[in-house]
Amino acid sequence: MYKILKAGVLAGNIYEMVVEAPRVAARCLPGQFVIVKLDEKAERIPLTICDYDREAGTITIVFQPVGASTTKYTALKAGDSFMDFVGPLGCASDLCSEPVEELKKKKILFVAGGVGTAPVYPQAKWLHEQGISCDVIIGAKTKDLVILEGKMKAVANTYVTTDDGSYGRSGMVTKCIEDLISEGHSYDHCVAIGPMIMMKFCALTTKKLGIHTIVSMNPIMVDGTGMCGACRLIVGDEVKFACVDGPEFDGHLVDFDAAMKRATQYKTEEGRALLRLQEGDTHHGGCGECGGDR
Ligand code: NAD
Ligand code: FES
Repeated sequence: MYKILKAGVLAGNIYEMVVEAPRVAARCLPGQFVIVKLDEKAERIPLTICDYDREAGTITIVFQPVGASTTKYTALKAGDSFMDFVGPLGCASDLCSEPVEELKKKKILFVAGGVGTAPVYPQAKWLHEQGISCDVIIGAKTKDLVILEGKMKAVANTYVTTDDGSYGRSGMVTKCIEDLISEGHSYDHCVAIGPMIMMKFCALTTKKLGIHTIVSMNPIMVDGTGMCGACRLIVGDEVKFACVDGPEFDGHLVDFDAAMKRATQYKTEEGRALLRLQEGDTHHGGCGECGGDR
């Protein structure tokens, strides 16, 4: 069992938990995720790692209640436990495998949208630990939904923007990217993490500006183990699966429209059957309902 040491609301309906998971904490790297399961009958939920403390043996997760399982999680408190807490899963951020001296030459911008601020934090923190500075844009709908601002400011040059202008700069993250450029900032590398629609428009913006961009395709994952086929996406002219090949991909090559349409189709039995027909051998078919695994 994996004991919850701390649980609470971070902002609005965004929740944070610190979980005792020493083996995950010992090995995880920024960009990776965990699969959480509350009990024998519960579904597996993939969640990005927001922070880790190797000495204390803890992992911090941040989530929004969207389905039955994550809604149940909101009632958990310190002292409760998860039955399974599997990880670290997925590939670590490419930044972690680049020589530090090369990274120091790069001007790196992170774009963190809403709950997507959580997986950006360990990347900015990791760079800070290597002595590399970076800029971070935190975007939120409104002042009350800005998360992790203090922690982010401790490790990166942080710009906060709210859609309604109630705090920090005004407007969506894409406007903030363009404003920073027109104020004289320049970037070689961008990592955008947040809702799919945000990542799509960030990629369009940075393509125009000629900034190489990485996005995290966590939102389309279901079981996170390479079995269900939910996270199939097109990157360039290749078929990839976010949970095993990613979750990070070149944002200028991801077909966001297809990924968003597919995520909606995947929710129904009829939709999965149609995907099976259209995708043939690359459907991956472990969803157990479309017949592709038989
Ligand atoms: P949100 O809807 O509040 O959006 C956050 C910010 O994204 C906004 O403030 C805005 O600046 C920007 N944004 C939104 N739409 C945009 C558009 N059309 N153009 C430009 N910028 C835009 O975000 P939320 O409610 O906190 O997000 C929840 C979503 O985040 C969930 O769908 C979840 O799956 C996703 N998420 C993604 C990751 C990941 O790894 N990619 C991690 C955690 C959560
Ligand atoms: Fe199921 Fe990737 S989330 S195959």
